[in-house]
Amino acid sequence: MDYPSSFLSKAFLAGSWIETPRTFPVRSPATGAVLAEVADCGPGQARTAIEAAAQIFPEWRSTTPYLRSDLLRKWHDSILAHAETLARTMAQEMGKPLVEARREVLYAAAFVDWYAEEAKRIYGETVPSRDPRKRILVRSVPVGPVYGITPWNFPAAMVTRKVAPALAAGCPFVLKPAEESPLTALLLAKLWEESGGWPAVFQVLPGSDPAALSGPFLDDPRIRKLTFTGSTPVGKRLYERSAPTLKRISLELGGGAPFLVFAEADLEKAAAGALVAKFRNGGQSCVAANAFYLQKEIAGAFTRLFAEKVASLRLGDPLDETTQVGPLVNAQGLAKVQELAADARSRGAKTILGGPCRDLFFSPTLLAEVPSDARILEEEIFGPLAPLCLFETEEEALAAARRGRAGLAAYLWTQDLGRALRFAEEIPYGIVGLNDGLPSTHQAPFGGFRESGIGREGGKWGLAEYLEPQYLSFGWE
Ligand code: SIN
Repeated sequence: MDYPSSFLSKAFLAGSWIETPRTFPVRSPATGAVLAEVADCGPGQARTAIEAAAQIFPEWRSTTPYLRSDLLRKWHDSILAHAETLARTMAQEMGKPLVEARREVLYAAAFVDWYAEEAKRIYGETVPSRDPRKRILVRSVPVGPVYGITPWNFPAAMVTRKVAPALAAGCPFVLKPAEESPLTALLLAKLWEESGGWPAVFQVLPGSDPAALSGPFLDDPRIRKLTFTGSTPVGKRLYERSAPTLKRISLELGGGAPFLVFAEADLEKAAAGALVAKFRNGGQSCVAANAFYLQKEIAGAFTRLFAEKVASLRLGDPLDETTQVGPLVNAQGLAKVQELAADARSRGAKTILGGPCRDLFFSPTLLAEVPSDARILEEEIFGPLAPLCLFETEEEALAAARRGRAGLAAYLWTQDLGRALRFAEEIPYGIVGLNDGLPSTHQAPFGGFRESGIGREGGKWGLAEYLEPQYLSFGWE
C-alpha cells in the first residue's frame, strides 16, 4: 500500500479510528497472502454507531446544502488524488485487474461529483389548494440515519453510490463493507475525514459476522433506512427483518442477465459488447450477461467473433498492467462456477473455449449447445463462463428473456428499431442495454424489477431514496 495504512486495521466509529478486541484477516484472492488484520465489529460497536448517527443527525440535516455539497466536492477531489492507491487496494483485496480498478475509481468518484451538485437541487413544491385560505407546501426531508451493506465486487463504487446521495440528502450513514473488501471502504472513510468531512456522519464498521453486526441496526427504530447490495436470499431476509421498524429500504439484488443477438445485429459490435457485458470484473457483476441467446442464422458467425475475442483475454495477476481477468473472489465463488459448468456439460453442452483452473483463476470459458434444462440458465453464474443457446423466432427470444424471477439487466442487439422498442417494452427488466454492453453509469436509475430488488441508485432517483416528502398544510385564520 502506498498510503500510511495503520488505520486499515481499525474501524471508523463515532468519529474515531478504534481497535476491537478481535480482528479478521483480509486475504488476496490472487496469492492467498494476508493483506491486513481488520477490526472485527459486533453488536457492541453497532450500538455505539447507532447512538453516534442518531446524535449527529439533527445537526447534519440542518446544515446548508452548500456545505454538504462543498464537503462532497472535497471528498471527490481527494478520491481522484488517491486514485492509484484505491485502485491497487481493490486489485489486491478482491482481485479486480488494475486497469479495471482504475476505471472503477472514476466511476466511484462520479457518484460523489453528481451528488455534490444534486445536494443543491433538493427542491420542494407548492400545490394549488382548492381552499383559498390554505396553502399546500411540500418539503423534501432526509429520511434519517442509514445503515448500508455493500458487496465486494465493486468495493469503491458501491460505497459512493450509496453514501454520497445519503450525505447530500442530510442523512448520516453507517457502512458495513463486505468481509472480502473492507480496505477500500476504510480508505474512502479516511479520505472523507482528511478532506474535512464530518467524521461521525460516515462510519465504517468492518465485521466477519454480518448477521451479528447487522442485528442492532435492523432492530433499532432510529435507523430509518436500510440499503443493501448483494444476493436475493439475503435481501429477502433483510427485508423481513426491517419490517417491524418499517424502515425505508433499497435492495439491489441478483441479476442473471440474458444477452440476445438478432440476425440483423452488427455482429462485430455485438461480440465486442458481449465481451464487456460478460467479462468485466471476471463476470462478477450483478449486470453481467448470464446466458447468450443467438438467432440461429447468425449463431455460427457471432460465436466465431466472440470466441476470438474471449481467447485473447489475459488471465493473471490483478496487479499486472496487462491482466484483463483476475481470480474469482473466493473458493465458494469458484465452486459455483465449476458446478454450473459441470452440470451443463453433463447435459450435453460442448466446450468451445476454456482451460484448466489454477487456484482461484478460472479460465474464460464458452459453452455451446447448452440445453434448456441446464442450471446455468436459471442461476446467476458470477464468473467468466458464458453459455450460448439458440433461438429462431422473436417469441422464443421473449420467452428466454422472461425466464426466471430476476429482472435487473437485459441486453438486446438488433438494428431493427421497432423490434428494439417492442422487445424492451415486453421484458421485465429495470435496465435494458440496446446495442450497449455497458449501461452502468452514475446518471441513470440502476436497479431491478421482480426479485432483483427495490429502489434505484444513481441520478436523481438515487437521491430520492434518502428523502421523503413532508406536507405542510398552511391555513390562515
Ligand atoms: C453491481 O454488480 O451491483 C454493480 C455493477 C455496476 O454498477 O455496473
